[in-house]
Amino acid sequence: MSDTRANRRFRSQEWFDNPNNPGMTALYLERYQNHEYTRAELQSERPIIGIAQTGSDLAPCNKIHVFLVDRIKAGIREAGGIPMEFPVHPIQETGKRPTAALDRNLAYLSLVEVLHGYPIDGVVLTTGCDKTTPALLMGAATVDLPAIALNGGPMLDGWWQGKRAGSGTIIWESRRLLAEGQIDYEEFMRRVCSSAPSLGHCNTMGTASTMNAMAEALGMSLTGNSAIPAPFRERMAMAYETGKRIVQMVLEDLKPSDIMTRAAFENAIVVNAAIGGSTNAPPHLQAIARHVGVELDVRDWEAIGYDVPLMVNMQPAGEYLGESFFRAGGVPAVMGELMKAHRIHRDAMTATGRTMGENLAGWESLDPAVITPYDAPLRQNAGFKVLSGNLFDSALMKTSVISADFRARFLSEPGNEGVFEARAVVFEGPEDYHDRINDPALQIDERTILFIRGVGCVGYPGSAEVVNMQPPDAIIRQGIKHLPTVGDGRQSGTSESPSILNASPESVVGGGLAHLRTGDRVRLDLNASTMNALVDPAEWQARIDAWTPPEIVHQTPWQEIYRTHVGQLADGGCLELATAYQKIGRTLPRDNH
Ligand code: FES
Ligand code: MG
Repeated sequence: MSDTRANRRFRSQEWFDNPNNPGMTALYLERYQNHEYTRAELQSERPIIGIAQTGSDLAPCNKIHVFLVDRIKAGIREAGGIPMEFPVHPIQETGKRPTAALDRNLAYLSLVEVLHGYPIDGVVLTTGCDKTTPALLMGAATVDLPAIALNGGPMLDGWWQGKRAGSGTIIWESRRLLAEGQIDYEEFMRRVCSSAPSLGHCNTMGTASTMNAMAEALGMSLTGNSAIPAPFRERMAMAYETGKRIVQMVLEDLKPSDIMTRAAFENAIVVNAAIGGSTNAPPHLQAIARHVGVELDVRDWEAIGYDVPLMVNMQPAGEYLGESFFRAGGVPAVMGELMKAHRIHRDAMTATGRTMGENLAGWESLDPAVITPYDAPLRQNAGFKVLSGNLFDSALMKTSVISADFRARFLSEPGNEGVFEARAVVFEGPEDYHDRINDPALQIDERTILFIRGVGCVGYPGSAEVVNMQPPDAIIRQGIKHLPTVGDGRQSGTSESPSILNASPESVVGGGLAHLRTGDRVRLDLNASTMNALVDPAEWQARIDAWTPPEIVHQTPWQEIYRTHVGQLADGGCLELATAYQKIGRTLPRDNH
């Protein structure tokens, strides 16, 4: 194997091969020999490669990694490394209460501790379900040891009565049909379950497919990794190649900070718009950027990404699912088309050891119905609007999912295009919303904006995906599928609601949403990227002066620790104190005995 590390010692040798401290070396060696490894191997100057295992019975979206790991290990061995698999705290989007988002920072924290405190020279990050991908990239960023992402891959396409049934998206759609009385409870359950036909993560362009595309766009995985469906043979091959490659990355000392530069994040923002990616990407990328020490601002999403066209025809913004996206070429095909249009920084370094431009040579769409050329897109301006005003300093709007019907009905008044003025109805969290949404006293009609607050990082805690609120049943029966919704939480990446999300600062820390009342007039102006409560300034100030923070009740110790240290979504929802720790893989902890 080619060894470009000159005379640099591996970090793991400080554990297993330290003649200055034979007592400790023996202690480190003996226990690792009792099942898998020999002393000769551990002292043979081979890099030790951690495999951060996110799959488990509790984390079915990532369960495929329990099987893929054999191929990862084979690749590592083949290239001369020694694999050591270890568990990651489970983060199952559909399983964890009150929200998996609460656990992103917990898994991050524990990964940092494992990578720093054990004899590990490089790591394979097994990603998949929504928050697993950012949690692991954040941890790798803080430690800055060579790291590579391997995605579990989306499930096969779901089908229901001859039509594609996409993860998450079918729930939002079926919830409406149930409210309209078009289907019963039994059919509702069967429809929704049809969208999950195999191992893998969500098959829509929800947060999972988005974040794995982001890992690839950042340069943190092998080319073509993210879109391969979980059960495909290509997925097994990718696991093997990823295992082989991480060994070389350790020899080359190719670290996350060499790959995740400002140029890489700009590439990711452009790709996110082109794929119709999730509104969860901005806080996650913000967090990764802060942990690796790159300047990024929530406003960069509009400045860099807004004018990028929608080129991927995948639910929720489009029609197809993961299998079609893979066959059309996946992320490298999208990036290849973007590169032809000069929207990609070609010189960004990647995990392959080559630049992004070199990786993408020859890649283009193999099916223009699924991945369009740059100049014949599905829609122009697919990036996010970053709104501000007296209700928040920043909030995101994914304009690419605003339906034609909604645009025609509300945003196309001649002379007033892009402006929507309406009456606010305010809910204190999802329980309040479910209790009252059908209450006629709220007088909800088609010129209402639904607000939800108390659901941000501190409020929920963790920031919940509850902003995509459905209108009252009576309104849906009138044919109005969506009302604009606004909140200090997030929404599922699989939702197609015209929502205004991630409002920062959140209401429980005194953000402007705290002062809004049902009945206030609110004005959304997409041309100016503003949203304001049309309340007399003196009256608004009086509400601010009279405001007292709501009482917060912690249910677990972690909730209290999290709430004490977490920042706002616009800043990535990080544990703020953790962002001061950079490149800590350069330091060694003290011996343990
Ligand atoms: Fe796990 Fe979507 S719920 S990937
Ligand atoms: Mg979700």
